[in-house]
Amino acid sequence: MRRTADAVESARASRSWWDRQAPGYYAEHGEFLGDTDFLWGPEGLRERTAGLLGAVRGRDILEIGCGGAQCSRWLAGQGARPVATDLSGGQLDQARRLNAEAGIAVPLVQADAQRLPFADETFDIVCAAYGAIPFVADSAGVMREVARILRPGGRWVFSTTHPFRWCFLDDAGPRGLVVESSYFDRRAYVEQGADSAATYVEHHRTFGDRVREIVAAGLTLIDVVEPEWPDGHDDAWAQWSPLRGRLIPGTAIFVATKEKLALAPQVG
Ligand SMILES: C[S@@+](CC[C@H](N)C(=O)[O-])C[C@H]1O[C@@H](n2cnc3c(N)ncnc32)[C@H](O)[C@@H]1O
Repeated sequence: MRRTADAVESARASRSWWDRQAPGYYAEHGEFLGDTDFLWGPEGLRERTAGLLGAVRGRDILEIGCGGAQCSRWLAGQGARPVATDLSGGQLDQARRLNAEAGIAVPLVQADAQRLPFADETFDIVCAAYGAIPFVADSAGVMREVARILRPGGRWVFSTTHPFRWCFLDDAGPRGLVVESSYFDRRAYVEQGADSAATYVEHHRTFGDRVREIVAAGLTLIDVVEPEWPDGHDDAWAQWSPLRGRLIPGTAIFVATKEKLALAPQVG
């Protein structure tokens, strides 16, 4: 159903949903994600080819909503210093297991993206591959938190469900090509239990909303990447299917920077 869900209800639902689902998520998607790889979304765009983070060697990088921390392990392999965070202890258990299997000990921190437990100007780069942003009620607050912990000159890159997808049924087949609800309906998608408490929540922002939230946090938007569905990629990921992917965008990747402050001119 579509209804409002505030930050507390959304975080509570996400934590318990991802705690419960974590083992199943890796059973289903683990092979596609790899153990040490950086994919931006179901279209299969990799950071290795996209280069959206810029140079990573020697950089302090925070990953938000890391899940199994595949992206952070890949970044460590490129010579970066990543820290991987997630709201869900169950997801971090998977990350710990995969760290051990890969022999790459990425630091893991349990944290809600809406309140990041790091000092101001700690990181050169912050990234999220479908992490946290689709699930938080206060995504404007996440933008402010990221702006706070980024060093001047730093970069923030996140992927999320393309806003346009919210017009369509969550269906991988032809039914998912028919506009069935308003793009402008900002109410969350909510699944709830018998007590009406949310058990799963995703939040919608229009394209303009996303841009305004980034700009309001004092960041500069420098690119939005809409990965196209590549030929020969036949694996569907839930509603992200080859059929729909060839016709309508499925993922939006926002690339923003925190500008260095210009020095005030010296007088006299
Ligand atoms: C779709 S998974 C993406 C995981 C990983 N980045 C990947 O590509 O597989 C979304 C992740 O966001 C996390 N998440 C949801 N709400 C969050 C929040 N408020 N703060 C931090 N992480 C959150 C979930 O626990 C989950 O691990």
